[in-house]
Amino acid sequence: VSKLKSSELKTPALLLDLDRMNSNLQTMAGFFQSKPAKLRPHFKGHQVLALASRQLDAGATGITCARLDHAEALVRHGIRTVLIANEIAGDSAIRQLVELSHSAPVILAVDNLEVVEDLARIAGKHAAKLNVVVDIDVGLGRCGVSSAEDALYLAQAALTKGLTFRGLMGYGGGNHNPPGVKKERAAHAKLQPLLNGKALLESAGIAVEMVTCGATGDYTITGAAPGVTEVQAGSYLFMDAVHSAFAPEFHLSLSVLATVISKTGNRIVVDAGMKALGCGKELPPVKNNDRLRVRALHAEHAILEAIEASFHARVGDKIEIWVQHLDPVIQMHECIHGMRDGQVEEIFPIVR
Ligand SMILES: Cc1ncc(COP(=O)(O)O)c(C=O)c1O
Repeated sequence: VSKLKSSELKTPALLLDLDRMNSNLQTMAGFFQSKPAKLRPHFKGHQVLALASRQLDAGATGITCARLDHAEALVRHGIRTVLIANEIAGDSAIRQLVELSHSAPVILAVDNLEVVEDLARIAGKHAAKLNVVVDIDVGLGRCGVSSAEDALYLAQAALTKGLTFRGLMGYGGGNHNPPGVKKERAAHAKLQPLLNGKALLESAGIAVEMVTCGATGDYTITGAAPGVTEVQAGSYLFMDAVHSAFAPEFHLSLSVLATVISKTGNRIVVDAGMKALGCGKELPPVKNNDRLRVRALHAEHAILEAIEASFHARVGDKIEIWVQHLDPVIQMHECIHGMRDGQVEEIFPIVR
């Protein structure tokens, strides 16, 4: 069967440069090879089961995700080492987790006594099958208990209720500093609440088997810090324009292929707008073409401007635009086309 060329694809389409993605996979795996901490990549950075398997094959200790239905998809795919680095609440979600925990020892983040009690109540005699980490707010101001004392209280409650307590988690948000002292300081400041929590729990006789934290912007620091057992970096695999200055060793690899549908003077309009490219604070860069700039995104259109008069585009031409921020964009597509030498080598369905 002859392989499809990118020019033959329906647009907008997500294209993944396989060689760049593999280089990112190997760079991250190489870093963790010599570290006591392990990588537990975040699934939302790609939402592709086959790529989660490749991350595990390259040495990752498990997969992180934020959603119960993603955890279920991972377990169905045969991946049993799943961390839900997020809170859940309400009887139906908890029942779903209890059900899933019968198939695999999925680990859940908790930050609330009521949820701990609900987990124990709904699991009943199976409470020990539920694995939990206590989530500490390390500065993001999202989820997580706000002190080491609260973490101790919740860990004790989990143990008393018969749940399996595994350790601590803390996600501090993206470390948007280029490599250097500022990045180091910011990362260490977010590690401290976790390390304080670990020390307090251990002084109370509670084993803290896991300390899970970190992201693409700080893995070099969190992944080398004593006490940390795993890092949840996700965006490194595809990399995006938001993160690339903060972890420049990774290459942008995911783009949106679009077709020129209108051209007037130096204004070029393509058929990929916010619904294909997302809508962050910044406009996305054009791939392999510094003579073209995205000027505006509408729902279904991007309006581009040719910076040099010598740039010629005709309706029907294809243009690739880098993904500015992976997380919202992946969700908008059904599949990713894995590309090599301008041809589709693999198609990756996206778990939505
Ligand atoms: C809990 C948690 N862990 C890890 C990550 C991964 O971050 P990144 O994609 O910057 O590597 C995120 C991203 O939002 C997250 O919410």
